[in-house]
Amino acid sequence: MTHITQLTVQQFRNCHQANLSLSPGLNLIVGDNAAGKTSLIEAIWVLATGRSFRTAKPQQLIEHTQTDCTVFAAVSSSFSTSSHHNPSKTHRLGLQKSALNTTLRVDGETTQSQAELARLLPVQLLTPESHRLLEEGPKARRQFMDWGCFHQHPEFAGVWRTYQRALKQRNHALKRRLPKAQIQLWDSAVVDNALAIDAIRQDYLAQLTPYLLTFCQALMPELTTTVQCQYRAGWSKGCDNLLGLFEQSFDADLRMGHTQFGAHRADIRFKFGAAEALDTLSRGQQKLFVCALLLAQASLHEKVVQEPIIMLIDDLPAELDATHRLKLLELLQILNIQHIITSTAQSLIPILNPDTTQIWSLHDGAIV
Ligand SMILES: Nc1ncnc2c1ncn2[C@@H]1O[C@H](COP(=O)(O)OP(=O)(O)OP(=O)(O)O)[C@@H](O)[C@H]1O
Ligand SMILES: [Mg+2]
Repeated sequence: MTHITQLTVQQFRNCHQANLSLSPGLNLIVGDNAAGKTSLIEAIWVLATGRSFRTAKPQQLIEHTQTDCTVFAAVSSSFSTSSHHNPSKTHRLGLQKSALNTTLRVDGETTQSQAELARLLPVQLLTPESHRLLEEGPKARRQFMDWGCFHQHPEFAGVWRTYQRALKQRNHALKRRLPKAQIQLWDSAVVDNALAIDAIRQDYLAQLTPYLLTFCQALMPELTTTVQCQYRAGWSKGCDNLLGLFEQSFDADLRMGHTQFGAHRADIRFKFGAAEALDTLSRGQQKLFVCALLLAQASLHEKVVQEPIIMLIDDLPAELDATHRLKLLELLQILNIQHIITSTAQSLIPILNPDTTQIWSLHDGAIV
C-alpha cells in the first residue's frame, strides 16, 4: 500500500528541520497558529507535484536565512519506476529547491521528471480553500480531472505536453500575425491532441461519476437530488469536426491573438437538479462535496492502479463540523488511505484506531 514511511523537511518556510516517521493510517500534526502546520503539508505537496498551493515564487518556500530547502520522503509502494511491479518497495524521493533551481531525486538518481515523483507519490489535498474548486474559474476543475487522467492513463502526460507545445506555437504565430498557412501548420497537432485529451477526460469522468454518487450519499444523505457531472470539451457542443471549427474561427482567433477552442478550455459543471452546486449547496455542503470528489478520485485510483493515494488535510476542523469530521475519518480508514491531518487542537480529531495513529506537536516549525 502506498504510504510515506519517513518524512524529512529542512529549511522549508519556518521549518528548519523536522523528521517524522509516519504511520500508514492517521498522522495528526497539532500546533497553534503559525506553528508551521500548513508548511509541512505544503512541503509534501511540493515534493509530489513540483508546485506550491500557496505561492508561485519558490523563494518564499525557503527559510528566510537560507539559500535552499529540502524535502525527502521514503514512500512504500508496490508501484515501480520500471514496467514491472515490485512488491512493497520503498522509494526514496527527494527535492531540493533554491531560488533558481530545483533538483529532483528518485532512489539516489537525479531525474528531470516531476511526473516520476507524482506517480510514486499520488497525493490529494484538502485545505480550507478547497471549495474554490467550485467557486473559481475552470482551471482548478481541469486540474482535478487531469489528476485522474494522469494517474490512470500512462499516455495522458505525453499527449497533454504535446498539446501544450503545439497550442503555444499556434498562439505565438497568431500573436505575431504570421501568414495563415504558417499558423495553420499547427492546427492538426492541436486538434489531434485535443481529441485524444477529450477522449481520456470523458472516459475518466464516466468512470468517476458512480463513485461520486456513492460518496455524496455517504457524506450528505440529506440531499434529495443526485449530482450530475456535465463535461464541456472546450468547443461547441455536438461539433464533430474540430479542424473545420478551427478553419471557421480563424479570423476571430487572429483578432484575439489566441486559440479560442480546444482542450485548454474544458470544464465540468456540477449540477443538482437544475441548479449549480455553488448556488444550491450550503458552504459546509460545498466543502463536503469537494471531499466527495476527492474520495471518489481516491477510490477509482485504488481500483484502477491498485494503490491507494495519500490524503493531506490542512486544518480539518476549519473544514467540517464534528459529525462530518468523524464520517470523513471513518471513510479514510475504510479506504485504507494514509492521511496526514493538521489541527490547532488534538481534541477536535477523533482517534478511531490508536494502533495506526501518530500524533505530533509542532511549535515554531519544529516537532516538540
Ligand atoms: N520563507 C519563510 N521563512 C521563515 N518563516 C516563514 C517563511 N514563510 C512563512 N514563514 C512563517 O512560517 C510560519 C508558519 O506558517 P504556517 O502557515 O505554516 O502556519 P500554520 O501552523 O499553518 O498556522 P495557521 O494555524 O494560522 O494556519 C508563519 O509565522 C510564517 O510567517
Ligand atoms: Mg495553516
